Amino acid sequence: MTAAAAVPRLFGDAFATAPEEAYAALRSAGPVAWAEIAESVHALVVTSHRAAVSLLNDTATFSKDSRRWAALNSGDVPPDSPVLALMAFRPSLLYADGAEHERLRVALEDCMARIDIHELLETTQAHADRLVSRIAPAGRADLMVDFADTLPLLVFADILGCPAELAVRMVTACQGIIGAGATAAQAAADFAHILAELIETKTADPGPDFTSWMLQHPAGLGFEEILHQLYCFVGAGTIPTAAWIASGLRLLLEDDAYAGDLTGGTVTVRRAMEKVLWTRSPMANFSVHFARRATMLHGVPVPPDVPVLISHAATGTDPALPPGLGYDNRAHLAWSAGPHRCPADSQAGVIAQTAIETVLDRLWNLELTDPGVPNRHGPFHQCPVSLNVRFRPQPADARAAAPTGGRT
Ligand code: HEM
Repeated sequence: MTAAAAVPRLFGDAFATAPEEAYAALRSAGPVAWAEIAESVHALVVTSHRAAVSLLNDTATFSKDSRRWAALNSGDVPPDSPVLALMAFRPSLLYADGAEHERLRVALEDCMARIDIHELLETTQAHADRLVSRIAPAGRADLMVDFADTLPLLVFADILGCPAELAVRMVTACQGIIGAGATAAQAAADFAHILAELIETKTADPGPDFTSWMLQHPAGLGFEEILHQLYCFVGAGTIPTAAWIASGLRLLLEDDAYAGDLTGGTVTVRRAMEKVLWTRSPMANFSVHFARRATMLHGVPVPPDVPVLISHAATGTDPALPPGLGYDNRAHLAWSAGPHRCPADSQAGVIAQTAIETVLDRLWNLELTDPGVPNRHGPFHQCPVSLNVRFRPQPADARAAAPTGGRT
């Protein structure tokens, strides 16, 4: 590792409380600079929007294959490091290059194109309504735990065609992964078992769902390949969508520019969601790449086989962006760019917008009771630790009793 002794840390309390301070320190060291992303794990992090666009489109120089990671191969990364959950190689499209990436990506995109957007909206609406009905009588809730974390999981269980019992287990396992506590590794293993069961079920009895479509796709993906793509699909999809819902709601409730205009409905919600993508990117630092050989990125030497992360968060607040750019354009890198750009921006938008609108429609006199909370720990996601609110309590509603999630 050629990093200087003390470099900004993208984990821990200080980073969770004031991430912009770490990004400012990184920027002052150059368009790409060393950071510590977990205890004793170092990486280069790109904070310049222009340098990030260059890297993300230069597949000849940069690879996504984390089997190249020299420090991991030499045993210099602690084997229990929390970053390994997302950075260690899996045979999914996220870590694939070139023709192999294209093959997996086309299969995933073709199957995603079969998700009916109106059905997605209705499914999201139904789950959101049930979750809100459960909290409505209390007059207070932590919308992070009681709503934002759970809703995308319920929607994904439906997209995958999970039978009800499997959906409940999937939600529990994924909540264990999100919790990132002592049981996270067990929860990840449980999740893989659940996906294997689901693929077996759909092989025997296909339905109009994403899992069956992947099994039937002409690319001819095998059992293990489908399992890894589904793992990536759910893993890549649920946590940032939860973060987008939470940060969107938080902005709408705490910023007077929006709070005063909530009667503006959909337009106001969408504007707040777009602003979040610039100012509080749900994926904070990700898009891990490895240089195939020693190279330079915008004047900075990049050694081969060290992780280079894109700071989706810092590139959105890059002071070198043109002044007056505003938030109503899509030039941000919250979805990344290049061949690994998120394939699901429209689906994620439907889920997040429906979620936010349901909360605002159903819970009246909604007020934040914990303004200014820090983010959850860790370098990858940008998500508030909590979203405590109070609102006018409502009588119990029959919708609350209905089961949450899964097909019967
Ligand atoms: C329906 C919800 C979502 C699904 C199904 C989904 C799925 C995926 C998948 C499969 C990839 C890997 C693409 C590849 O490697 O070719 C990906 C990448 C990515 N997604 Fe999403 N995603 C969702 C929501 C989001 C949200 C809300 C954000 C943040 C605003 C986001 C940001 C990203 C980023 C930054 C990448 C690039 C990762 C990398 O290059 O390593 N995604 N997404």
